[in-house]
Amino acid sequence: MTGAVVYFSSASENTTRFVESCRFDELGIATYRIPLRTGDGPLAVREPYVLIVPTYGGGVVAKAVPPQVKRFLNDPDNREWIRGVIASGNTNFGEAYAAAGRIVSAKCKVPLLFTFELMGTPEDVRKTREGLARFFTQQ
Ligand SMILES: Cc1cc2nc3c(=O)[nH]c(=O)nc-3n(C[C@H](O)[C@H](O)[C@H](O)COP(=O)(O)O)c2cc1C
Repeated sequence: MTGAVVYFSSASENTTRFVESCRFDELGIATYRIPLRTGDGPLAVREPYVLIVPTYGGGVVAKAVPPQVKRFLNDPDNREWIRGVIASGNTNFGEAYAAAGRIVSAKCKVPLLFTFELMGTPEDVRKTREGLARFFTQQ
């Protein structure tokens, strides 16, 4: 399988829990985490990946993408390899629900593949595993 998952998760670790539930290693999909703190040094990814990003605007769509994720994608050598985006959020935020996915999709010109709430349901995990296995086979 040629494909990786790059994800960001803050201290609340919802996205980490989702990624762990997906057991991507069993599918031959490598996972990389965007560092929380700048002191941890930048992440460099040089293989095709799907980004999993939680939304952090507090309802303000323009601020939906976490700064750490912006920094990662501002590196053209990282951006070159993004093939799709999966976004999470909380439907309590209404119009801004999972807005980070729509922003990354538009800016990087890649499909928004899926959205889920918080740490995802077992159904979200199943769909993501099946969907990504299929997606990377088609790439
Ligand atoms: C300060 C803050 C702002 C948030 N803003 C949004 C938002 O604008 N839209 C949305 O859908 N979810 C929003 N959320 C919900 C998060 O996307 C959700 O809790 C996510 O699972 C966090 O992932 P993480 O624990 O891996 O960082 C916000 C959460 C926090 C704490």
